[in-house]
Amino acid sequence: MISDFEILEFLRGSDTYVSGEDLSRHLKISRSAVWKHIQELRQSGYEISAVPHLGYRLDALTDKLFPQEITSSLNTKFVGRKIHYYESVSSTMDIATKLAVEGEEEGAIVCAESQSRGRGRIGRQWFSPKAKGIYISLILRPNLPPSEAAKLTILSAVSCCKAINEETGVSAGIKWPNDLLVRGRKAGGILTELNAETDRVRFVVIGIGINVNNARSGIPDYATSLRQERGESVCRVSLLRAILRRIEADYIHLLKYGASSIINEWRGLSLTLHSRVKVVCYNREVVGEAQDIDSDGGLLIRKDSGLVEKVFAGDVVKAG
Ligand code: BTN
Repeated sequence: MISDFEILEFLRGSDTYVSGEDLSRHLKISRSAVWKHIQELRQSGYEISAVPHLGYRLDALTDKLFPQEITSSLNTKFVGRKIHYYESVSSTMDIATKLAVEGEEEGAIVCAESQSRGRGRIGRQWFSPKAKGIYISLILRPNLPPSEAAKLTILSAVSCCKAINEETGVSAGIKWPNDLLVRGRKAGGILTELNAETDRVRFVVIGIGINVNNARSGIPDYATSLRQERGESVCRVSLLRAILRRIEADYIHLLKYGASSIINEWRGLSLTLHSRVKVVCYNREVVGEAQDIDSDGGLLIRKDSGLVEKVFAGDVVKAG
């Protein structure tokens, strides 16, 4: 039994029409089976023209996040080499965590076109409409103590920002700890979930959600999408590839040389530093000037009393 993918590869390899006869001969299936696969590919979003006496031609790829689209020309060593793809899930975090517990390898990702119970930080909901955004969870198994796992959140935010900037031309920045903002509105976020023993990380699941092709009417006022900011739609497949490449390169660098260069990049992309902020933490609020980020990801706030306090979690709002 051949798959739609084999037909696709054939069409991809040709810049002109491929006859039904050639396809049928090479793949050893009937002409009507070829037609059936072509119909299925069209339903998946591939644009394929069919001309009598000439055959089939691939006119446009799908924008679905099919594993074969992502991995073709991905060129990473391990990040995104294995993709668990779903049309719809409750949350990619739950699936990735289950896979990681069962021993799934480092670098594997869970990717979905939509989520019914996408979640954000602090128990919030992550709105995940179908085929509009990027919703992935990445499994990493770093050799780090749990106290250093927050570095991976910083790394992911930096890698995503760089990938967005390079791939779309939209200038994204980071609001501490891990909001991706464009012109003051939220375009994406990172959620890191940790599974650890006292002194050893078993695995980390990094959840990345980005509003890519959402229309203005489909998102709340405090949020935005890359399409909205760019004025034209963004190829999700190319953007996801760029994100995976960036994360792998930055992760390998971090494990080898430490986090200082990533933290420096974070400083350069930060929208929080050197402004007066209020950080709303779980049971208190800290007000002052956001001075710096510490090597463990904590935000250092100089309070009006002159004392510097470090916060690890919370929501930053600009203080008057
Ligand atoms: C935040 O800004 O609060 C983080 C949002 C993270 C959302 C992503 S979408 C993919 C993954 N699956 C989830 O349920 N959440 C993360």
